[in-house]
Amino acid sequence: MEITKICCIGAGYVGGPTMAVIAQKCPHIQVTVVDLNEQRIKDWNDPNTDNIPIYEPGLAEIVAEARGRNLFFSTEVEKAIDEAQIIFISVNTPTKTYGKGKGMAADLKYIELCARQIAKVAKQNKIVVEKSTLPVRTAEAIKSILDNTGNGVQFQILSNPEFLAEGTAVTDLLNPDRILIGGDTTHEGETAINALVNVYANWVNRDKILTTNVWSSELSKLTANAFLAQRISSINAMSELCEKTGADVNEVAKAIGMDSRIGPKFLKASVGFGGSCFQKDILNLVYIAKTYGLNEVADYWEQVIIMNDHQKRRFSNKIVQTLYNTVADKKITFLGWAFKKDTNDTRESAAIYVADDLINEQAKISVYDPKVSRNKMLSDLDYLGTRTSDENINSLTIFEDAYDACKGSHAIAVLTEWDEFTTYDWQKIYESMHKPAFVFDGRNILDAKKLESIGFVYKGIGS
Ligand code: NAD
Ligand code: UGA
Repeated sequence: MEITKICCIGAGYVGGPTMAVIAQKCPHIQVTVVDLNEQRIKDWNDPNTDNIPIYEPGLAEIVAEARGRNLFFSTEVEKAIDEAQIIFISVNTPTKTYGKGKGMAADLKYIELCARQIAKVAKQNKIVVEKSTLPVRTAEAIKSILDNTGNGVQFQILSNPEFLAEGTAVTDLLNPDRILIGGDTTHEGETAINALVNVYANWVNRDKILTTNVWSSELSKLTANAFLAQRISSINAMSELCEKTGADVNEVAKAIGMDSRIGPKFLKASVGFGGSCFQKDILNLVYIAKTYGLNEVADYWEQVIIMNDHQKRRFSNKIVQTLYNTVADKKITFLGWAFKKDTNDTRESAAIYVADDLINEQAKISVYDPKVSRNKMLSDLDYLGTRTSDENINSLTIFEDAYDACKGSHAIAVLTEWDEFTTYDWQKIYESMHKPAFVFDGRNILDAKKLESIGFVYKGIGS
């Protein structure tokens, strides 16, 4: 089957970059990304590609190249579904906030809505691709909705989870470690798998395109995120032990990472992992295990989240304790608010929770982040519901300049590992602060020795 038209439902952090790269690499395929959110689509269509709604290094250039040629952003969901041979579902699957499974299970209402809309609109056979991260066996539910329309249209459901990380989305998409495609083992299933394999084969070596059954593919995505997050919680657990024993977690990470069976990546101790997926996907895994009565499996994975929450709280407690057990009315400057560098995404960022703890202690927080807007930071705090919006506005001051943010503060907390923080004139910052001047490096990116020689009291994670 020659694919010439693709549609993607959901123009978010996954749908937007993924489809932009497919469009760039497959100029013969028309790619239309649709979303219900009119503002988001308007922003994707902004003539100045610097204003597209998602910041990812290299993305604006790709959008500039493909948009209007074979890449389109639109709110006309039904038209795009009708025209496409392959429909990617790339909508959000957040943790449920109500009903059964509240706080753990994935909320599949947006997925179901997409399936119903596809069922309503489709007049020809289609391949429906799960791009969103979903609980294992979701394809069954999607298939049941699609197959009960009574209009004779045949659907093949594929699972094709996305493994990109934010901040490196474009390079991850251009050079993926692997592409995973799960499908039915029937003849029709294999034809659908091949159609999608051929799309990716336009730029990905076929050796890296792995095909499996649907359930393996769905579960592999949750497993990959669980393993990655587990490494961070493991090294973070060790960071606390390092602080008690005089060991240095960076040295420990290096020593164990040189064992080729362990490997050096994802061993950076931090204030805790953030992002929209690790926590949500592990909670979902825990919920699935519990549903099958696998309580030991559930408890095992839940510990990864418990450790991460502990790490965030431990960081704020350390700030309070070090500042003589009171931060009331003290100015504490946050460098960074995004959940990692090179993204404007703040979902589940550790900064939000650390700020919340410190504001509860009546600290005054100043923030500088090169990519996150004032409104975003305030709405992140409002979303927690700890206090009113006015109270949050009074407790959080946002600066456009890092030096201004640091002026007159008692302590600096590094919450995101933005490269620019390592290039600052730290002598100048020191001179503008209250003494003793503290730095709490939640990312271990600054040069401890240099800061101490200037006069700072430096506290990293795990040393
Ligand atoms: P997102 O919230 O940024 O984007 C989802 C978009 O879907 C939103 O713009 C929303 O308006 C739209 N949408 C929801 N329902 C719709 C409907 N019925 N019709 C049209 N549009 C609709 O989410 P995201 O970060 O792109 O994540 C999407 C999925 O991909 C999730 O399942 C997530 O777990 C997974 N994932 C995310 C990442 C990541 O780095 N963010 C990486 C891999 C996988
Ligand atoms: C993660 C996975 O890396 C992707 O493969 C996956 O596709 C994605 O989740 C998803 O499903 O959404 P992402 O959350 O964008 O990607 O970014 P990561 O680089 O994994 O970082 C997540 C968090 O862990 C960040 O807060 C980061 O600072 C933290 N981290 C990462 C550490 O604290 N230490 C490390 O060694 C690595």
